[in-house]
Amino acid sequence: MSSVRVRPGDPLQGTVRVSGASKNSGCKQLAAALLAEGTTTVTNVPSVADLEVMLDVLTAMGVGVERLGSDALRLDTTGELTPEAPYELVTRMRASINVLGPLLARCGEARVAMPGGDNIGQRKLDMHFRGLEAMGAKLSVTHGYIEGSAHGLHGARIVLEFPSVGATENLLTAAVLADGVTTIENAAREPEIRDLATLLNRMGARVHGAGTSTIEVEGVRALASVDTELCGDRIEAGTYLTALGVAGGEIDLEGIRLDQLEMVVVKLREMGMRIDATDHGLRARCERRLASVDVATLPFPGFATDFMPMTVALLAVCDGTAIVSENVFDNRFSFIGELRRMGADIRTEDRHAVVRGVPRLSGAPVRAFDVRAGAALAIAGLGAEGETVVHDWHHVDRGYVDLPARLADLGAWVERV
Ligand code: EPU
Repeated sequence: MSSVRVRPGDPLQGTVRVSGASKNSGCKQLAAALLAEGTTTVTNVPSVADLEVMLDVLTAMGVGVERLGSDALRLDTTGELTPEAPYELVTRMRASINVLGPLLARCGEARVAMPGGDNIGQRKLDMHFRGLEAMGAKLSVTHGYIEGSAHGLHGARIVLEFPSVGATENLLTAAVLADGVTTIENAAREPEIRDLATLLNRMGARVHGAGTSTIEVEGVRALASVDTELCGDRIEAGTYLTALGVAGGEIDLEGIRLDQLEMVVVKLREMGMRIDATDHGLRARCERRLASVDVATLPFPGFATDFMPMTVALLAVCDGTAIVSENVFDNRFSFIGELRRMGADIRTEDRHAVVRGVPRLSGAPVRAFDVRAGAALAIAGLGAEGETVVHDWHHVDRGYVDLPARLADLGAWVERV
């Protein structure tokens, strides 16, 4: 089991190039490649553990996967696919559920292991099911597998109860090959949805309105494989900004745009961080202890839940008291117990946390329960007296390209054990 040691050090400085968004965008674009027969070259797609699982899922289905150096790969989706995502892989990464829509659309059938809840919440799939059923799919859960068949999907008007990212993606990738027009109301508006729709349209789909709450899809008969390049990972960028908030200093981030970060930038500026757009990305400066602000997570363009754990780690050493409300997942505060072990003054009540900033945390051995929780604990370690050891770091490697090395490039004292 991997661990990471963190010590407080000098203020951060230097330039870091933000990695391609392999986890939250790349995995979805790979799943979308299933919709067409042909070869797809994906660039700016560095290896993270979740991407590797998605590649294993695709390989198990009969897709040819070829690595082209460290940041690119080629998929070959010609020929018959085995429309099945086995339990051993789905249990390692729940985004494997994203193959459900494409498989139903292309193969007319799918057998995908049912993912369970995880360390941040129940993570139900009811909206995926209801939407696909409205398009004519027949779905059942038998012996732990979702079994689906769809002999001719048709367009439908679907209203989501909540703007779920995963449900919007699955419905979108099913609707592109359905007969007629599908409208998804209350659709998720995350940048990853817009990027997915852009790829689908380049493949020949007719998707309108992605990035807004109403997405309209005119189904087409067939799609063609095209090459694609991933955008910079906005969560990774936000992680460096919160690290800067704790350690102080001045850093340049390349390969990211301010508009991808939206509310995070608004909040960090309100706290006293200076953030400006540059020609290649952004520059951020933090010269003093930041002031606490309240944060409530919401679907995009609200404050993303994925930034919340790192923001709580920052607020734990800010000046003042903040109330943090988690409105997206039902169990995303378990890392707070670990922060308390480091001396953080945080009280939780249901989905709310009251974070009273303390001048300094104290380093301690702690455990990462999920990808962002682990990143948050490392960031807390940058502002803690002595040494912090974050155990179970493999969770963090699911979504980050060697975060310890990237933070060390900025001058932080972080190393793998
Ligand atoms: N939900 C339902 N029913 C559904 C679908 C979702 O009740 O059918 C609920 C979920 O339980 C959750 C909420 O709706 O409470 C939002 O879930 P959503 O479907 O939007 O999340 P997701 O697609 O499962 C993706 C990211 C998450 C990110 C969320 C929200 C990937 C692989 N995962 O998950 O990323 O937090 O969207 O933006 O893209 C992370 O990177 O750390 C991470 C967890």
